[in-house]
Amino acid sequence: MKYIFLLSGDFIDLAKEEIISLFEIKNCKDNNKLLIADLKNKKILIVGDHLAIAYCLSVGSAFKAAGHTIYFVSDISATGQFAKPRIQQIASMLHYCESMDDVKTVLLSMPLRDIEVIAVIGSVHVLKFIERLKTTILKTNWHPGAQWIASVYGPMQCMLKGVCAQCLQWQIDPKTGQRTKAVYACSWQHQPMELIDINNIAERLGQNRAQETLTQLWLDYLFDRGSICKV
Ligand code: FES
Repeated sequence: MKYIFLLSGDFIDLAKEEIISLFEIKNCKDNNKLLIADLKNKKILIVGDHLAIAYCLSVGSAFKAAGHTIYFVSDISATGQFAKPRIQQIASMLHYCESMDDVKTVLLSMPLRDIEVIAVIGSVHVLKFIERLKTTILKTNWHPGAQWIASVYGPMQCMLKGVCAQCLQWQIDPKTGQRTKAVYACSWQHQPMELIDINNIAERLGQNRAQETLTQLWLDYLFDRGSICKV
């Protein structure tokens, strides 16, 4: 999935410095609110792709102010990196990796036993990759009582928590893998990882592929012919 911000003039420098927050905290149903309001002095690992940067910018400062320590590891190429100085202000440890294999190497070198909350933020590919590490090569490295949160970023339309139902995503029973209930992901964007039906996110996102391909072709056409800046 690619994100391109179309900006002109003075807004380009502003956007590089001040990427806007994508998530509301105060009305949020998910675990972010709990971490900020009720829990203290946790070590939190945020791991993912470029979406993890947006997540960290949105909630990281509040986590830090609540007394938590943030570790940040993301798979994002050198050309796609942004907001590094701001992430450095939030995170005690920061790794921008070139691939998910690099992420794996970083995780293998970290004291994962001390980390009580892991937020996995990114694409279906990222969720599946970390899920695999969680249950195989790193199975015994994690804190035994670690709390896992992961992003459920499927298609959304109204973002009004139950009006259009475009954001419905299945949850599963972690023991059986059977689907248990559908939830409005716009009101619960970060869910306990063991409950998330990751394949369902992939299926729902796949429904947008034709539209995204056409949009990408149109943007490529515009960028080829006009002097439009990309951030
Ligand atoms: S996006 Fe419309 S109900 Fe969630």
